[in-house]
Amino acid sequence: MGRNALRRLPRVSLVVTVVALFASGCSQKLPLDTLDPKGKAGRYIDQLANPVFMVAGVIFVLVNLAVVVIAVKFRRRPGEEDVFPEQIHGNTKLELAWTIAPAVILAFIAVFTVATLFKLTSIPAETSMTVRVEGQQWWWSYKYDLNGNGKFDDPEDLTTATELVIPAGKTVALKITSNDVIHSFWIPRLNGKKDAVPGRVHDWWIQADKPGYFLGQCTEFCGLSHGYMRMAVKALPEADFQAWLAAELKPAQVPTDAAAKRGLETFVSQCSSCHQVRGVNTTGCQALAEGATFDETRFKPETDCYKGVSAGWTRAAQVSGTAPNLTHLMSRQRFIGGLYELYNADGTPNTNTIEAWIRNPSDFKAMAPTPSRGNTFGRGMPKLPLTEQQIDDLVAYLTTLK
Ligand code: CUA
Repeated sequence: MGRNALRRLPRVSLVVTVVALFASGCSQKLPLDTLDPKGKAGRYIDQLANPVFMVAGVIFVLVNLAVVVIAVKFRRRPGEEDVFPEQIHGNTKLELAWTIAPAVILAFIAVFTVATLFKLTSIPAETSMTVRVEGQQWWWSYKYDLNGNGKFDDPEDLTTATELVIPAGKTVALKITSNDVIHSFWIPRLNGKKDAVPGRVHDWWIQADKPGYFLGQCTEFCGLSHGYMRMAVKALPEADFQAWLAAELKPAQVPTDAAAKRGLETFVSQCSSCHQVRGVNTTGCQALAEGATFDETRFKPETDCYKGVSAGWTRAAQVSGTAPNLTHLMSRQRFIGGLYELYNADGTPNTNTIEAWIRNPSDFKAMAPTPSRGNTFGRGMPKLPLTEQQIDDLVAYLTTLK
C-alpha cells in the first residue's frame, strides 16, 4: 500500500463504519428490534425512548455544532503568531449554567422514566394467566399455572420450553426466576429486560397485540453459551391458543412405528434422566423401574407410564427438569435454545439438524457437560455414546412428539 493510501485509511474506514451503521438500521428483517414494538409494554418503552432520543439528539447536535464553530472560529490562521491564548478560569455564570441545565433536563426525563418503570412493573389487573419463566444454562422453561392456584407443578399445569406460547391480545403475568446463575429475559418487540435471579422471583408481564412470532435473547452473561441462549414468544389467536393448550396437556402418544418404538427405548435409557416426556417419565414410574409389577389401578397408562415400561424397560423413573420438556417437541418451531428451526421450509421435520445435534451437541453450542472446577454436574447436553442406528431411532421417536 502506498503512503497516500495508508494516510487515507482512517478516513475510509470511518466512512465505511458510518455507512454500515446507517445501512444496518434500514434492514427490514430485525427480529430483535426494540424500536418496533408489537405489544403494550414494548410501546410504553418506545414512547419513553422516542422523546428522550429527541432531547439527546438536539443536545448532541448543539454540542457538536459548538465544538466545530469554536474550532473553526478560534483556530490559528496562516501567518498568525503562535501565542498561548489568554486563559480563563472560574466563570461562575458559565459553571452554574452547565450544571443546572443538564440537571433540569435529567430531572425532566426522570419523571417520565420512573412513571414508565412503574407501568412496566405493576401487573395489569386483566391478566389472563400466570407463567413461571425459569432460566437455566442455556435455555428457558415455561410453567403455566393453569388451575390458577399460584403453583406451577400440579398435574393440571403445563411445562414447556424455548417458546412461550400466549394468546394474542391478552396480558400474561410472568414470574421470572433462574435455576442456576443470573439470566435475563428479553423479547425486544414485546417487553424490556428482566433479570432472572436464582432464589428470587421477579414479576413481569407480556402482551402481543396480534398473532406473531417474536424472538428474544438472554441479556445477562451466564457462561459459555450465553450468546446462544435464545427464546421466543409465539402469540396465537385465542381459539388456536386454546387448541394448542388442549393438545399440550395430552401425554405423548405411544409410538407405533418400529423405529420410533426402538427410539423410545433408547430415550428411556439414555435421555430420560434429564428430559421429560409426559407419559414416559412422570411420577409413578419409579416403582416400575424398581421391578414392581404394573398395577393398572395405581398407574393410569395414559397419564403415568407407557405400558411398555412395565415390559422391562428400566431407568424410566427419573423426574427431572434439568433439560427441556420434550412432550410435544414438534409443536414448536425452534429448538436448541431457540437457535435452530425444527422444520424445513417445505414443512418436513429438520431431521438432519436433530440428528447432528444429538450426535454432538457441542457442534451447535458450547457445552460443559463434564464436571469441572466449581461445576459439580456439568452444564448443557452431553455427547452420549450412541450408535448411528440409535440416533436414527431417537429421531424417529422425537419426530412423533407432535
Ligand atoms: Cu442466560 Cu445469558
